[in-house]
Amino acid sequence: MIIAVDGPTASGKGTIATAIARHFGLPCLDTGLLYRAVGRQVELVGGDPENAEDALAGADFPDTLLADPELRSEVIGSYASRVSVHPKVRQALFDRQRSFAQQAGGAVLDGRDIGTVICPDADVKLFVTASLDARTDRRFAELKGHGRDVTREEVRDQIARRDERDMGRKDAPLKPAPDAYILETTALDKDASIAAAIEVVETKRKG
Ligand code: DC
Repeated sequence: MIIAVDGPTASGKGTIATAIARHFGLPCLDTGLLYRAVGRQVELVGGDPENAEDALAGADFPDTLLADPELRSEVIGSYASRVSVHPKVRQALFDRQRSFAQQAGGAVLDGRDIGTVICPDADVKLFVTASLDARTDRRFAELKGHGRDVTREEVRDQIARRDERDMGRKDAPLKPAPDAYILETTALDKDASIAAAIEVVETKRKG
């Protein structure tokens, strides 16, 4: 069983994908981390994420980079979003994601284009979303919890800019697949969102 979980930044798709994977005993791939590793590699060598050649060179990152805690930072999130607009970068990461999805027994993948490009054949496609304000509140609380000195406005701006870039790019823009189930979590807390997602998968599985 292949489960695709897509959605915008701070929608909770990562938390939901991890919970689904645990519930159904499947391996899980956070594909955003691959784009973050490309972004981090570009940053480390002083490259320009807007430049297609620099970005493609970053796709040759060493696997050890995937454990770098800096990958989770907002700065690298922005680098990731910028390198991900280049079709050659997306192509360079395609096989890795595809073979993860096709392993025996299935897998859960979360990202932006899993249901549309990487696994159009997924058994279940979830598109997790929430209002800009709800996503801002969640990300702001998370950053504050980590002691980060940010304002709510800064966080809202960063998320809005990321939405614009991820949805507006030409190649594999963020959008729900026509057969995706839209999971709107604005009014749901974490546990309720996870329970709703598991129910969608269970219902699909029972056919
Ligand atoms: O999910 P995330 O915030 O870790 O992703 C970081 C960036 O990577 C996101 O802004 C766009 C890009 N990305 C992508 O283009 N396609 C994916 N499948 C996953 C992430």
